[in-house]
Amino acid sequence: MKKYLFITFSIITFLSCSSSKESRNATVIIDPNPTSEMARLMREMTIELDEIKIRLEKNETLENNLLDFALIHEAEVTDISFNKPHIMPMSKAFHYVVNEFNKEPNIINYNSIINNCVSCHQLSCQGPLMKINKLTIKN
Ligand code: HEC
Repeated sequence: MKKYLFITFSIITFLSCSSSKESRNATVIIDPNPTSEMARLMREMTIELDEIKIRLEKNETLENNLLDFALIHEAEVTDISFNKPHIMPMSKAFHYVVNEFNKEPNIINYNSIINNCVSCHQLSCQGPLMKINKLTIKN
């Protein structure tokens, strides 16, 4: 039972931001909080963008205004250490490119959304970067 719990915990730690170098020496979260609003938003975005990626790769024509994400900088975070000064400007830049994609849903605009995910994560939390990089459409 103990072993099972340990494995589960390691997986969660690996997927979430806690595995990033920056936060490793910060606070040790012994009893992790329930998933934050921000983490939930991030997971939803990942799933939706993955679906869009598949459709774009099949050369489907996408409708306008497919994406309607809550504002990142207004979401509650798991740990206050995530509340850094770059979050607000990068969140605004992110929502700008999402809007461009909504107006013109094509591969170029899709990839610029993913580039914005990457930029913020390089500064915020590097744990999910591998997962995010997989969302990029290569041609
Ligand atoms: C403005 C900065 C910023 C942008 C842009 C951003 N993220 Fe995040 N992301 C964060 C922060 C901060 C966290 C940690 C949130 C928390 O744990 O409360 C996070 C967490 C995550 C997680 C881990 C969630 C979990 O289960 O704990 C994933 C996956 C993720 N982001 C994917 C993405 C994807 C995909 C995009 C682009 C569509 C994206 N992020 C855009 C800052 C950002």
